[in-house]
Amino acid sequence: MSSKFKLVYIFNKAFEMVNAKQQKYQKSLMIVLVTVFALIAIGGLVRSTGSGMGCPDWPKCFGQLIPPTDISQLPADYKERYAVANRTIADFSAVHTWIEYINRLFGVWTGIAVLILSYFSFSYKSEKPNIFWGSQLALFLVILNGWLGSKVVATHLSPGIITLHMVLAILLIFVLQHLKHLTYGVEFISNNPNVKKYKNILWLILIMSFLQVVLGTQVREQIDHITNNEPNLAKSNWLGRLDYVFYIHRSFSAALLIGIFYVLRKLVEEFKENALIQKLSMSIALILIAEIAAGVILAYFSFPAIVQPLHLLLAVFLVSYLYELIVVLSKRELEKA
Ligand code: HEM
Repeated sequence: MSSKFKLVYIFNKAFEMVNAKQQKYQKSLMIVLVTVFALIAIGGLVRSTGSGMGCPDWPKCFGQLIPPTDISQLPADYKERYAVANRTIADFSAVHTWIEYINRLFGVWTGIAVLILSYFSFSYKSEKPNIFWGSQLALFLVILNGWLGSKVVATHLSPGIITLHMVLAILLIFVLQHLKHLTYGVEFISNNPNVKKYKNILWLILIMSFLQVVLGTQVREQIDHITNNEPNLAKSNWLGRLDYVFYIHRSFSAALLIGIFYVLRKLVEEFKENALIQKLSMSIALILIAEIAAGVILAYFSFPAIVQPLHLLLAVFLVSYLYELIVVLSKRELEKA
């Protein structure tokens, strides 16, 4: 082989290797996105089943790598020995312990998945540094939230920390959504002059939705307070104990419903040719209806345990899809520029 051909061969091989790494990056990005949504759902399940203190220590569970399945595997004074923030823990429950343990395992898996993502992002470092730095930011947010997760246990489930934990999870989703569109690119051929207007309205709606999420977490903090102080109170009486924050949260849904349906209708009409915008708009509308229905079921049908994590997951889907829609519209502007 002549030296010229050798050079071309080496160049092609190097190109193929970078390309293969980028494909692996795209796959791992989708895996991380699905993993984070699943982790949020499992986190919601931990709370709705009251399993948050199922493992009173961290990172081990009752001092063991694989937690006990029966109380006989624990020392007699386990309640005092594993007391948290000077409070003795509740009676051992294998179900609570294993739900919390699975939550932690999933947390560890999330860490590994995002670490792999960060590794593959090196293939973009010179060509598309935004993807590289965005991936490092995702890694940082996962580590920070993992650490915060340990504080949730150490502070005996302090409500403020749980809320912060959730806000960080939403920020992580935004970063991942952004990376998705930086990586895949979006085909957009429309020259609609109203894009900027819709984008501004969507930003306003996203901020309102984020506020609604924060309001929801305040309602949830009140519920936590009620269940901590009156553990034997029937679920049907929880609603009566909530204050004005719940009524603001409930009424705010109506404002969101009107705002979101207004802008989605306009988008669906004006971007008939764009399958992605049609798909996103339809998904957001369905998620919003399901979310409001879940809220009504929670409040007026005695807080069914399975609906609590669902209400949380749908809220995260809502802000995530709204953000994705904004990114898609912004991409068009970038491409036009
Ligand atoms: C756009 C609409 C809505 C959004 C985005 C939303 C979002 C949220 C979020 C994020 C939480 C905190 C969940 C958690 O931390 O586990 C929450 C809690 C709650 N929301 Fe909503 N919500 C909406 C509509 C409604 C409606 C219409 C109702 C009732 C009529 C409602 C009733 C509740 C109740 C009772 C809680 C406390 C649930 C618990 O303790 O698990 N929500 N909401």
